[in-house]
Amino acid sequence: MDNITVPILRDKKGKERISALTAYDYPFAQWVDAAGIDIVLVGDSVGMVVAGEETTLSVTMDQMVYHTRIVSHAVKRALVVGDMPFLSYQVSKRDTIINAGRFLKEGGAAAVKLEGGASVSGRIAALTKYDIPVMAHIGLTPQSVHRMGGYKVQRDTEKLLADAKSVESAGAFALVLEGVPIDLAKEITQSVQIPTIGIGAGPHCDGQILVLHDLLGLSVWPHPKFVRAYADIASIAQDAISRYREDVKSGKFPSLNEGYV
Ligand code: KIV
Repeated sequence: MDNITVPILRDKKGKERISALTAYDYPFAQWVDAAGIDIVLVGDSVGMVVAGEETTLSVTMDQMVYHTRIVSHAVKRALVVGDMPFLSYQVSKRDTIINAGRFLKEGGAAAVKLEGGASVSGRIAALTKYDIPVMAHIGLTPQSVHRMGGYKVQRDTEKLLADAKSVESAGAFALVLEGVPIDLAKEITQSVQIPTIGIGAGPHCDGQILVLHDLLGLSVWPHPKFVRAYADIASIAQDAISRYREDVKSGKFPSLNEGYV
C-alpha cells in the first residue's frame, strides 16, 4: 500500500472511499496505521476523550503539538493531520501561520485541520500559500458549541453549500462534514471537487471519520447516534483492573515465578 500524501488523498474522490480515525498516542496510532486507515487526525477531541473535559475549548497548542508528535512517530503510511485548537487561528493571520507551522515543524504532521467555512477562508488561503495543506471542517463545529447552544445538527443548506464552495476555492484539500443531514451532505459532496469526510453526515460522503475512543467503546461521554462502537474496551479494561486488585488483595499476585531469585 502506498504512503498517503495530500495529492493521493485528493485523488481518491470518486474512486475509493476514504477511511479516517482520530488517534492521540503511540500504541493506538500504530494500530490505526497498521489497519490501513488513510487519515489519522490528531483531533482536539483529545480534550474530551483523553482529558475528560466537557468541550474542546480548553485544548492548547502545546498539548496538540505534543500529541501530534507522538502520533507522527507511530504512523508509517497514513496522512497525519493536526487539529488546530480554539483561538489558534481565529485571532490573526500571523498566529494562524505560526501555529499551523508548528504542527508540521514540531509535530511531524503533513497537514492541519481547522473549523469554519467562509469566515476562515482567508486563513485557509494564507496557509495554502505557504504550502501548509488544510482540511476544512464545516457543519457541527465543536469549537462553536456555545454559539450553537449545544452539539446540534446543522441544517442551513444555503450557508453550508456556500461554506463548502468557499473553503474549496481557498485551497482546502478535503472537507470534514460533521452533524449534517444525509441529503445535504450528499449535495455538498456532489458540489465540490475535494473529498468530503463525514461524521454524523450519512453514507454519501467520500469518506468517514470517527473518534477512535467512541469506536472502541472507550469514551468517557455517552456517544451520539451516529457512532458505531465496534468494541467494548472499557469493560475489558475495567475487568482486568478489578481482577488485578482482587489478586493483590488475596495475595495471588505476584507469584514466586513473577519475582527474582
Ligand atoms: O477533534 C476531532 O476529533 C474532530 C473529528 C471528530 C472530525 O474534529
